[in-house]
Amino acid sequence: MSKKIVVGNWKLNPSSFEEADRIVKSLSRKKINGVTLVICPPSIYLSRLIHKKSKIVFGVQDLFYEKSGAYTGEISASMVRSVGATYAIIGHSERRNYGETNDKVSLKVKAGLESGLNVVLCVGEKERDVHGHYLSYLKAQIDESLALVNKNVLNKGSLLVAYEPVWAIGEKSSGPMDARDLHETSLFVRKVLHDKFGKKAFDIPLLYGGSVDQRFSGVLVKEGEVDGLLVGRESLRPESLYQIVESVRSTK
Ligand code: PGA
Repeated sequence: MSKKIVVGNWKLNPSSFEEADRIVKSLSRKKINGVTLVICPPSIYLSRLIHKKSKIVFGVQDLFYEKSGAYTGEISASMVRSVGATYAIIGHSERRNYGETNDKVSLKVKAGLESGLNVVLCVGEKERDVHGHYLSYLKAQIDESLALVNKNVLNKGSLLVAYEPVWAIGEKSSGPMDARDLHETSLFVRKVLHDKFGKKAFDIPLLYGGSVDQRFSGVLVKEGEVDGLLVGRESLRPESLYQIVESVRSTK
């Protein structure tokens, strides 16, 4: 698998464009080499944050599956592309919490890929149980979220899967999952993808997300055997995010 990747999911932050600009400017002064850094800010900031010469690439946290029409408040994949963003996070657990179903996620993944965006599909169980039922939950979530995706539309790295156990996300969680447990799960997710897409599954980078910080980022990638990370809170702190990028780079 090629270049590692770090995706920053800013969620509903920061509260002003000036603050967003300050974070991006501070990241732009760093030497970012050997790792793809994607920032997904609130989409209203995108067109002013994206600069052609920047090494940082940008994405959205969601998109809508229709191309145009009477869909108040929505943003299409081609609109995202037209401002120069190239990535889209789809199916984040916080959106699933508000009722986004696997069916809708699948429509969005399809629309994103067909318009030429790189799509980061988020999956992850809400809780773990000793009997391993979470694995069948995870498999169903992956299969259903990718139900409309034909392997012929996949290019190297155009679809990414972010495994984010919901219990490890956010301030209230007990922190990131153990890297050895991640390894077990990353093998499982790869197998599910292989069953669906065959050899094309090797073109799908696998990310981990959930309370990633600079203390654990390197070990999660290395021992968890993933191709990168999806970072929430720490992606709003340029210094921490840079340390995370560096730790990922040095896992090579
Ligand atoms: P967190 O969020 O790093 O703040 O736990 C991760 C995510 O929700 O993508």
